[in-house]
Amino acid sequence: MNTKNLYIETYGCQMNFSDSEVVASILEKDGYVLTDDIKSADVIFVNTCSIRDNAERRVRNRIQEFKSLKNRKPGLKIGILGCMAERISEKLLVEEKFVDIVAGPDSYRDLPKLIEETGDGRQMANVVLSLEETYADIEPVRLDKNGVSAFISIMRGCDNYCAYCVVPFTRGHERSRDPQSILKEAIDLKKKGYKEITLLGQNVNSYNYKDSYGEVNFAELMRRVAAIDSDIRIRFSTSHPKDISDELIETIAKTDNICNSIHLPVQSGSSSNLKRMKRFYTREWYLNRIDKIKSMIPDCGLSTDIIAGYCGETEEEHQETLSLMRMVNYDYAFMFKYSERPDTLAAKKYPDDVPEDVKSRRLQEIINVQQVSSHNNNLKDVGKTFRVLVDNVSKRSKEQMSGRTDQNKVMVFDRKDCKLGDYVMVKCTSCTAATLKGEIVV
Ligand code: 5AD
Ligand code: SF4
Repeated sequence: MNTKNLYIETYGCQMNFSDSEVVASILEKDGYVLTDDIKSADVIFVNTCSIRDNAERRVRNRIQEFKSLKNRKPGLKIGILGCMAERISEKLLVEEKFVDIVAGPDSYRDLPKLIEETGDGRQMANVVLSLEETYADIEPVRLDKNGVSAFISIMRGCDNYCAYCVVPFTRGHERSRDPQSILKEAIDLKKKGYKEITLLGQNVNSYNYKDSYGEVNFAELMRRVAAIDSDIRIRFSTSHPKDISDELIETIAKTDNICNSIHLPVQSGSSSNLKRMKRFYTREWYLNRIDKIKSMIPDCGLSTDIIAGYCGETEEEHQETLSLMRMVNYDYAFMFKYSERPDTLAAKKYPDDVPEDVKSRRLQEIINVQQVSSHNNNLKDVGKTFRVLVDNVSKRSKEQMSGRTDQNKVMVFDRKDCKLGDYVMVKCTSCTAATLKGEIVV
């Protein structure tokens, strides 16, 4: 049998990277070999993101470059996967005639058949969303190269319908994956030598799996995964503040190998804005959760997502976001300008009325506050010693390695004789707002 080469390009969130690993596994079973060389590919897949308009625009521009590849190699097949495929399948098929396959997030098992049935200008699409698909039985092919940290997708979809967000429309309803299959995947990662596992889902706190043996919630799932090997670190992403329970915070506090790091997207520091966002919590509720975290896990790393210039956002509401950021004192934040997404409640109900220049200015003010918090927090780490999992060779110099602390901060240090996957004790000697620098101590 002739081998066929598969090239996958992934955009957007970690869930997409995890999905690309499922796609790679499905196609390897069908005789494909993964390649990093796009020119040698027989099939090119682009796994896409719809979360903001500029994410979609980037992909539309990028795929134009594949046209010339196809002109040179007429048998080449091009597939668009993921959220954009789900959201604008018709448009893609009509406007991008060189695209052969369009497949949504729940139809990856169908890809071998879709590839088979395309050719000579015949396009195929499957964008049916499922209430059950979790790809539980598929052993992902790990696409990351470091062999140290891996992701396990524990649930799919989202039922929260935050007013600004397109995800419930592109990824469908929430469903939790069988815990047995998650544990099996974690044990397999242990056997392969991985040292860090991140449990992934759009809202992992609402993980819940019921069957005749009983019910497993997220805190229980974390305990079970953490118990596999105390030398493997457990992380999770991403959480909704309304669902972050005391039980979960206590589980993180009590379990050594569950990292002291929580990503808790606030989106806005204003209760009235949060109400328009349909986030189902107030500023006070959020701050109460942060107090609980800080009292139970004093050294917890904290990060968040923030949207600047949401529909109807007043100057006072924006100021409340800045003040909440100063109160929480995050270590890291992902910060975005609001981007209206078709079909969402916000697109239907609220005009996108904050002018572009005001959005830009507010975003910059948010970035400035975060820069100060990150730097101040890092300065407090200077002089302290951290247990770091080595996961990278520094981009600047081969003599330097980098890794992450329990709190998820990046630490750069001289290599000495450590290697990828080692835990080393590193004393922090200096910092910038973005990284800690240090030296290995024995
Ligand atoms: N515009 C801007 N940012 C958005 N996000 C989600 N939808 C939008 C949107 N329409 C951000 C949120 C979310 C993160 C993944 O992306 O902050 O937490
Ligand atoms: Fe989108 Fe809200 Fe679901 Fe996150 S929780 S994916 S922001 S709808």
